[in-house]
Amino acid sequence: MPSKLGITTDDIVLSRAEEGDLASLADGYYTAFAFLFDREEPEELRPTPEVRIARFIQRIKPWLGMPNTRLVKATVKGHPERVIGHAGWLEPDFDRIFNLWRRDAVEEYGWAEQQNWTQEQVDEIWSSVNLESWQKMIVKNDRVRKRVMGDEKHWYLAPLWVLEEYQGIGIGSMLLRDITSIADAEDPPTAVYLEARDIARPVYVHHGFEAIPPGEGDDVAMVRRGPLTKEWKSRQLA
Ligand SMILES: CC(C)(COP(=O)(O)OP(=O)(O)OC[C@H]1O[C@@H](n2cnc3c(N)ncnc32)[C@H](O)[C@@H]1OP(=O)(O)O)[C@@H](O)C(=O)NCCC(=O)NCCS
Repeated sequence: MPSKLGITTDDIVLSRAEEGDLASLADGYYTAFAFLFDREEPEELRPTPEVRIARFIQRIKPWLGMPNTRLVKATVKGHPERVIGHAGWLEPDFDRIFNLWRRDAVEEYGWAEQQNWTQEQVDEIWSSVNLESWQKMIVKNDRVRKRVMGDEKHWYLAPLWVLEEYQGIGIGSMLLRDITSIADAEDPPTAVYLEARDIARPVYVHHGFEAIPPGEGDDVAMVRRGPLTKEWKSRQLA
């Protein structure tokens, strides 16, 4: 089915995000997760839109150099300059549960040295963010993932988005299948883990993810272990 813009998945290209995509990615994050970033970067801390984007770019830039990560972008053929969908993956060989979104990832992964940042620059890059609330959310997600996955190897998705005007035509599915097809090709299939928003759950269930019960999964965790089966489907419908 074509989008409002007359585009179908045949017009979409998936490839790895690069440094030149960071501004477009940052823009996409702020658009797709406006509710989240408006909460976590409250008005009293919020600079001009240009500075806000520039700081966000700095915060995500070190990810590009991280081994065993896969930052996938969706673009429209002939328009490589605009990221219209994105999936950020940590591969099964990523060696620890320590989210790249965390403020303390800077120290954990040695980004200040790599990027030649002074402490003042690090503080400036993060100065738009309500650090207490942000860290609480992400650290909790790490704790839940550790509890659910333990030492089991898994792909980790954080996050997935498609710009609104391109939604509903299969780009989210393209971005998911890009990796679930790799995970399923292993014997046994590799697990895939994500933290889901309520509104996105049906999409993930459709792709074979199962919600981890509250308590253990804290209402966010979903795991997929192998392709959809008839038994799995009937369990979901039961
Ligand atoms: C969630 C999101 C990424 C989905 O992207 P999308 O491009 O609109 O999704 P698609 O059009 O590929 O649809 C996904 C699949 O789920 C299916 N689906 C969609 N809604 C469904 C529903 N309510 N019940 C069951 N299946 C559903 C679609 O049929 C499609 O499957 P198919 O490819 O086999 O036909 C997109 O809505 C988004 O970016 N939302 C804002 C950001 C966000 O919330 N991200 C998720 C964070 S956890």
